[in-house]
Amino acid sequence: MADSSARLDIGGTGHDYAVKDGSVGPQVIDIRKLYADTGMFTYDPGFTSTASCESGLTYIDGDEGILLHRGYPIDQLAEQSSFMEVSYLLLRGELPSKAELEEFTRTITRHTMVHEQLTTFYRGFRRDAHPMAIMCGVVGALSAFYHDSTDINDPMQRRIASHRLIAKMPTIAAMAYKYSVGQPFVYPRNDLSYTGNFLNMTFSVPAEEYVVDPVIEDAMDKIFILHADHEQNASTSTVRLAGSSGANPFACIAAGIACLWGPAHGGANEAALNMLREIGTVDRIPEYIARAKNKDDPFRLMGFGHRVYKNYDPRAKVMQKTANEVLTKLGVTDPIFDVARELEQIALNDPYFVEKKLYPNVDFYSGIILSAIGFPTEMFTVLFALARTVGWVAQWNEMISDPAQKIGRPRQLYTGPTQRDYVPVDKR
Ligand code: CMC
Repeated sequence: MADSSARLDIGGTGHDYAVKDGSVGPQVIDIRKLYADTGMFTYDPGFTSTASCESGLTYIDGDEGILLHRGYPIDQLAEQSSFMEVSYLLLRGELPSKAELEEFTRTITRHTMVHEQLTTFYRGFRRDAHPMAIMCGVVGALSAFYHDSTDINDPMQRRIASHRLIAKMPTIAAMAYKYSVGQPFVYPRNDLSYTGNFLNMTFSVPAEEYVVDPVIEDAMDKIFILHADHEQNASTSTVRLAGSSGANPFACIAAGIACLWGPAHGGANEAALNMLREIGTVDRIPEYIARAKNKDDPFRLMGFGHRVYKNYDPRAKVMQKTANEVLTKLGVTDPIFDVARELEQIALNDPYFVEKKLYPNVDFYSGIILSAIGFPTEMFTVLFALARTVGWVAQWNEMISDPAQKIGRPRQLYTGPTQRDYVPVDKR
């Protein structure tokens, strides 16, 4: 696969390293022998120039604003596909036939219930616990309930664990919500779609009938598709790193959920909506733009900027359109949407944001839609985790099947004290 080589000159001695081609995107220099050859490490905090693995799942061209899953553009998938179909695509590599999709959907549907004992876990949490705290705990605990799918060396157990995780996340997420509002848990319903069932478990109550609104169901399904996978982002890398030690899949996904929670990652949708609420009216936007540009102020425009996209995030475009559809359908005239649109226009024309190539990302509009549907802000990152589970699981499976896989073990540039002798406390 090596097409050419790159030469590194250290102290007059040349070292050659194979340069590998992907199917598209930047080439990589294979430096696996660098330390053995030279006694040196590379230094790359934040992995800005490091490919940690080979992957055939998702491709991003950040300059052009392109996101492909198994080669298919995200906007085509969001507009024409379904979350179940995209899940199949990510897991199996190809779009399913009608029969394959039906079989896959049936399999996922039949795994949606959780062990009844899990309900007692919820009761151990405070009612005001953040649902992401509950998600970390409950998903991590799944390995204590599903012993028959924790052997990572058995492909069938891996497949069952993957199906269980995708199927049970909506149930676990809806239960986290129900617990926080003091309503009874709602059991899954197999006659509903994956997304319709989630909405029903979240918003229905035993006292009256709840009918899933098809516009909301469609918007929610799109949101799930838009969050399904995103290459080697922080939480996915966390899942891979945890999995590289041989940890069971439930533990690995719990690790991914913990990483996703941070405001620089999945927590940004919650932070973006809070920011829009804080701005409140269009006339206050300049004040916040000025703060975002001020080096001495830690404030950042949440929902803006991305490590990889240096162009409009293609997911944000679909999200903006979906926000319009949902607000129109629900007849919501949320002034926050006006603030968001105006803020976007001002930022897109401001030299600071233009020069740094800061564009709206997926989180900028998602909070507006989720809030209009009726989700409290604390649930936003939970919904991201629910959808991203399929990406995590697909990436985890890809890693386990990769013969080049090794335990993840970065090295460091050590700058602490050199060796010194211990001094007893009475002599210090
Ligand atoms: N507002 C104001 N300035 C910004 C912003 C922002 N949102 N984002 C980046 N910058 C500036 C930053 O100050 C830096 O300026 P300088 O070069 O003068 O020091 C420059 O742009 C580059 O930023 P960086 O922090 O070095 O870039 P990064 O690739 O390490 O960070 C990011 C990417 C997403 C963490 C960052 O853009 C950010 O904090 N954005 C807000 C949080 C957010 O919306 N996160 C959601 C990401 S999309 C969902 C997901 O994949 O999880």
